[in-house]
Amino acid sequence: MSMFKLDPEFLEEKTILDCAAGTSSFTPVMGNQGYNVTALDPIYGLGYGLVEERSIDDFHTLIKAHSGLEHKVDWSFFQNSKNMIEERIESCKEFIDDYKVFKGLRYVEGKLPQLPFTNNQFSLTLCSHLLFLYDDRLDYQFHLESIREMLRVTAGEVRIYPLVNLQGNGEKSHFVNLIKEDLTHEVNVELVEVDYRFRKGGNEMMKIKRE
Ligand SMILES: C[S@@+](CC[C@H](N)C(=O)[O-])C[C@H]1O[C@@H](n2cnc3c(N)ncnc32)[C@H](O)[C@@H]1O
Repeated sequence: MSMFKLDPEFLEEKTILDCAAGTSSFTPVMGNQGYNVTALDPIYGLGYGLVEERSIDDFHTLIKAHSGLEHKVDWSFFQNSKNMIEERIESCKEFIDDYKVFKGLRYVEGKLPQLPFTNNQFSLTLCSHLLFLYDDRLDYQFHLESIREMLRVTAGEVRIYPLVNLQGNGEKSHFVNLIKEDLTHEVNVELVEVDYRFRKGGNEMMKIKRE
């Protein structure tokens, strides 16, 4: 929630898409609170067993990636690694239980830059830890097409987090300014500070709205 500065009042009546949702707990948590939320990811084409394995792998990858990289991480948000690990174990369980029940319902298989949804199907689309973060392997064209596609299926706002890349120097991806320039005549692009931060410099999101 804090990655995208979402509060319950703002979310009321929203039809939410979590794009590239992976094994995160946003969809189970929100879905179980009664929000209308859909998660999209290529991994949802896999059966329950494989997705469960993927979820456990993601957890181990995260722990491995961050051990020894403390200087690139802002621990003040999670307080310490133990707190972060406990939270992640809980999220992992929540996701797996929910996926088992709602595969093919809340969890839709798909892949940017093309989405299996109709124009304006959602009022809010979120995308975390895919665009900008992996700017070394996902090229600029992919970023531009993916954002335009998310805007196509969204009547309200698209929000993207974080804006930094994996290099971890706290600098924004250089695609951020290019996207702002390229979309400036079509939509309103704003960079907004958020409470959540884990990677250094990772306390901003991009908010994109039709004019
Ligand atoms: C680092 S995970 C982030 C998951 C989640 N959004 C989060 O913040 O925890 C990146 C996710 O992007 C998904 N992904 C990879 N390529 C994709 C694409 N072309 N379109 C949509 N999702 C993609 C992966 O399967 C993976 O689940």
